[in-house]
Amino acid sequence: MSRAAYVDGQYLPHRSAAVHIEDRGYQFADGVYEVIAVVGGCLLDEEPHLKRLARSLAELRIPAPMPNAALRIVMREVIRRNGVRDGVVYVQITWGVSPRDHVFPEAARPVLVVTSRHKRPADPRMAADGVAVITIPDLRWQRCDIKSVALLPNVLGKQQARESGAFEAWQVDRDGMVSEGTSTNAWIVTSDATVVTRQADSAILNGVTHLAVLDIVRREGYRFVERPFSVAEAKSAREAFLTSTVVDLLPVVTVDGIAVGNGLPGALSRKLRECYLTHAANTT
Ligand code: PDD
Repeated sequence: MSRAAYVDGQYLPHRSAAVHIEDRGYQFADGVYEVIAVVGGCLLDEEPHLKRLARSLAELRIPAPMPNAALRIVMREVIRRNGVRDGVVYVQITWGVSPRDHVFPEAARPVLVVTSRHKRPADPRMAADGVAVITIPDLRWQRCDIKSVALLPNVLGKQQARESGAFEAWQVDRDGMVSEGTSTNAWIVTSDATVVTRQADSAILNGVTHLAVLDIVRREGYRFVERPFSVAEAKSAREAFLTSTVVDLLPVVTVDGIAVGNGLPGALSRKLRECYLTHAANTT
């Protein structure tokens, strides 16, 4: 099946789908996005994703290009045209096309792009054996709660992780506290079995997977606290893990080459991963 994309009002063949060179997303990164998991043809946690999208748009003062009811139809149509049962749908909204000028355009209309792709089969060893993370300085701006397409520090950090043989880079703020990964949220489990993850402030993206796992932690009755944790705490934690729409929940077994706990995926991380996969499988 040839791939299709929705671009500014039209369904186009993916290979020829394009936006204008003066789209403000291209020139200023003046846009926002969402990545939503498709599980068995259904959109996982669609509501919180749409809520976060609306919030990101409002923060950048970009008008919504269409009501949510219409956006839901477009996302489903793109998924259908691409024959995706398990994968992701990508939604991007920019301020639109206008002669380059920093000031908001008066005449521009926001441009909506929707694409979808099959999930690449994840290496099962990542969940079974856990992954390595490195730590890097957090070079980003002070509004990381906005899911903006401006991802350069994230890209550089992820590349640095890959070149170091790690899966992810945990970004560290000026106080030595871990903010989050370059495309994932960060978690530890302390020696007294308390789950710790940073509160959703403007230093991190309020991950939809983060919210779902927090719900599971609450429901299952585990002790938890939402607060920043330091790199030293992560290295001496009993367990660590990371979460996102794309990777679900993966145990972290080393931080900067230092084994977390006994260097194997922790029992609580494995249990929470199972619960999260059940939550995903139950999506309708
Ligand atoms: N990234 N933190 C950052 C910086 C992210 O970019 C993401 C998601 C997350 C996790 O959010 P969620 O659980 O809602 O996926 C945390 C997406 C998947 C991406 O850029 O591909």
